[in-house]
Amino acid sequence: MNNRYGSLAAWVYHLDKPIGRSFGNSARSIGDIEFYREGLKGCRGPILEPAVGNGRVLIPLLEAGHDMHGFDASPEMLDHCRRECAMRGFAPVLDLMRFEDFEAKAAFDAIILPAGSFQLIVDAAVARDVLRRFREALTPSGRLIVDLDPVSAFCSTADRQRSWRAGEDLLTLQERRLETDAAGQTTVSLLTYEHRRHGRLILAEEELFSLRWWGIAEFEEALGVAGFADPIVSADYRRGVAPSRDSGSITFEARVDRVSL
Ligand SMILES: C[S@@+](CC[C@H](N)C(=O)[O-])C[C@H]1O[C@@H](n2cnc3c(N)ncnc32)[C@H](O)[C@@H]1O
Repeated sequence: MNNRYGSLAAWVYHLDKPIGRSFGNSARSIGDIEFYREGLKGCRGPILEPAVGNGRVLIPLLEAGHDMHGFDASPEMLDHCRRECAMRGFAPVLDLMRFEDFEAKAAFDAIILPAGSFQLIVDAAVARDVLRRFREALTPSGRLIVDLDPVSAFCSTADRQRSWRAGEDLLTLQERRLETDAAGQTTVSLLTYEHRRHGRLILAEEELFSLRWWGIAEFEEALGVAGFADPIVSADYRRGVAPSRDSGSITFEARVDRVSL
């Protein structure tokens, strides 16, 4: 199964991207968490974070006073999220669910997808249908905010090896690109996670990791077809600053198109 985020993947995610760790250009103070916090100021109703992961973004938004809800396809990621929420006295609604199975009617004032999670949906038709269901899940004044990695992020096919220490434990991750489909705009990589203690291998897990890249105009068009209007495109978490060739992340913010209701 693709994009599983099993026990070692979830542990590595939690070590590498703990609660409140903001993504973004380290040369500037603003990252994704600050961007979402600022953008959601004044949003009083429920907010949904699909693919919520360990709660890296959800928990700072709970701390900012928002009524946060989340879902994720990985029980192991949700375990981290529930534990971190409970440690802080929060008990948000967190469901085990896939994008593909999500459905709700006019329930949320905002839906947010940081960290390029939307790109985990590799079938373009499925992704477009998920966008339509996100629109149906929003109230008439609702907004969708989605981060995508630029096409340039998919260009390097070099293998990557990283490691993390957690007390006596050593975790390693090796990433190897297996496939790039330029027509389908998808990549498949093999992720090999290993957990060692005192040099002894305790557990190894392999996962296939698939992503789809989107062009900027292509995604704006998909938002329009799904019933969204007035998209604002921002580069590197600077609201309204148009992406350039060096941009590291692209955020789309669009409101429900009332004509589509
Ligand atoms: C990059 S992490 C993002 C976590 C969190 N949103 C953040 O910003 O840190 C991607 C998450 O997507 C989840 N995921 C992968 N495929 C999914 C699917 N089909 N439906 C829902 N969640 C999925 C993974 O389990 C993982 O927690």
